Amino acid sequence: MTATLEVTDLRKQFAIGRPAIDGVSFVVPAGEIVVLLGPSGCGKTTILRCVAGLEHPTSGDISIAGRVVSSPKRGILVPPRSRDLGMVFQSYAVWPHMTVRQNVIYPLKHRKFTRAEANRKVDEVLELVGLLEYAERSVVALSGGQMQRVALARSIVYRPQLLLLDEPLSNLDAKLRLRLRDDLRVILKQTGMTALYVTHDQAEAVVLGDRIGVMRDGKLLQIGTPDQIYNRPADLFVANFTGATNELAGTLVERNGEFGVVDFGGGQRAQAALLHPLTSGEKVRIALRPENIAIGKEDGANSFTARVVDRRYQGTQTVYDIDLFGHRLEVLELGTAARHQVGAQTPICLPRDACWAYRDSGPSSYD
Ligand SMILES: Nc1ncnc2c1ncn2[C@@H]1O[C@H](COP(=O)(O)OP(=O)(O)OP(=O)(O)O)[C@@H](O)[C@H]1O
Ligand SMILES: [Mg+2]
Repeated sequence: MTATLEVTDLRKQFAIGRPAIDGVSFVVPAGEIVVLLGPSGCGKTTILRCVAGLEHPTSGDISIAGRVVSSPKRGILVPPRSRDLGMVFQSYAVWPHMTVRQNVIYPLKHRKFTRAEANRKVDEVLELVGLLEYAERSVVALSGGQMQRVALARSIVYRPQLLLLDEPLSNLDAKLRLRLRDDLRVILKQTGMTALYVTHDQAEAVVLGDRIGVMRDGKLLQIGTPDQIYNRPADLFVANFTGATNELAGTLVERNGEFGVVDFGGGQRAQAALLHPLTSGEKVRIALRPENIAIGKEDGANSFTARVVDRRYQGTQTVYDIDLFGHRLEVLELGTAARHQVGAQTPICLPRDACWAYRDSGPSSYD
């Protein structure tokens, strides 16, 4: 059985400091994977712990499969063991003195299964995570990635209605991490389980999430499909955190529906997509992805001449630092040829769909 998770206006205030969770609402529909993405300290783990029942929320409601499991206002607090959920953590929570099979069968011992049934379930889930042939091995004879697969197998063997994952890949080396990341989505989708996954790694969020929620300082800033988050970020922080790291400051001087004209001073102007409701005369900041700037190309509106300040050849791509009327921007050019020399003047084009204008509320919101 897979279930919908509903979190409504959740708040958690610890004894000290600002609220760790500050009015967060979202839904994970049955069978969907929602990834909460955000920098260290933004409240991701605290949300998971509240959903699991390991932390007591200050206010707000949490329901799983339509049943309220936490509501301070109504005096409801269902204990963790009665919430029917699985958890996978950053550290490999496996028992080192046991074999893979003994680890995975453990949660079934307290449930009503015959030994044969339990073993069949263990075989099924080990097959799913690609560890069937390791079943009788001691877990200490496994790699980190394999141990994490054991932890995953153990948390899904009893088919909980909801799976919570807290940065399960962050202790793995880079290569294993990519492998398990791709496998994890396939495994979760095969089980059809509802999953809430937290990470600070944007690539993980995009690969794994049906939807991504971007958090900052205890608040959920935007929740949407990876496409929405990557192509229509709701604010400057979301844009920055998901890789639109270039910024240009200017003044909005003209509006035409979804687009507008931004003046950067010195007679330089560009068209931009208005992702905030903005009025003419407002100070704005434009966020731009390095890979969305076309270097060496002129294409009508939004074409400029920039100077190449630095370049870093990376084999299959080159990163340039360019100077555009006094602003330093990073540009990514795909391909094995680095075509532009340091010191050269080169045409660049900033496609207007890729120039996202937001209200300027002080210094860059990225930290
Ligand atoms: N038991 C606690 N007592 C007091 N403050 C806490 C406690 N647990 C967490 N916090 C605070 O709540 C905030 C959110 O912490 P949380 O662990 O949820 O962040 P996170 O997003 O999971 O970060 P990370 O990516 O580093 O794991 C932080 O400011 C943290 O210091
Ligand atoms: Mg955490």
